[in-house]
Amino acid sequence: MSQYTIAVLVGSLRRESFNKKLAAALARLAPAEFKFNTLEIGDLPLYNQDDDAHQAPQVLRLKSEIKAANGLLFVTAEYNRSIPGVLKNAIDHASRPYGQSAFAGKAAGVIGASVGTIGTALAQQHLRNVLAYLDVATLGQPEAFIHAKDGLFDDDGNIGAGGREFLQGWMDKYADWIRKHAA
Ligand code: FNR
Repeated sequence: MSQYTIAVLVGSLRRESFNKKLAAALARLAPAEFKFNTLEIGDLPLYNQDDDAHQAPQVLRLKSEIKAANGLLFVTAEYNRSIPGVLKNAIDHASRPYGQSAFAGKAAGVIGASVGTIGTALAQQHLRNVLAYLDVATLGQPEAFIHAKDGLFDDDGNIGAGGREFLQGWMDKYADWIRKHAA
């Protein structure tokens, strides 16, 4: 049985982030051969093209973690109808210098939770545009726009009963997508 290492990028640094919790709960729905590793993006400097020739150690770490992964999982908040700056900053770092992107040819899933009823739909759409440019193949269906409300998680941090079947279905498709691209 092949093992799959998934690099997870969470678009929120908030301590009690719904998206951090969603990433953790999704990992529990994954097949046993999938291992999820949430990447640190909060310690990255602000991207500055002047630094491309000597990227910071945190940037080199991020890039090597992405390159080593068999797949990517983006779990993002929505800020002002778009991608939170902290996630865009990480993506910009890992995409550079020109021609040395860590992303090319990777497969990914995109998902997110917000307190608004559209559940990060616009942030996810913007993120898909960015990832398409970076030659990352994103799972198209099912889309998952998660409304963060009471009952989303149970007391143990699992997906609550109301969303479990849908998110298990999402995870099953995601796992198939990663297997297909890794083959
Ligand atoms: C928000 N929030 C938000 N929600 C949404 O559905 N659409 C939006 O455009 C925005 N915009 C936005 C901007 C900024 C600067 C903040 C701080 C928040 C609310 C957001 O969904 C809420 O704070 C979530 O809790 C963020 O996700 P995490 O941090 O819980 O993962």
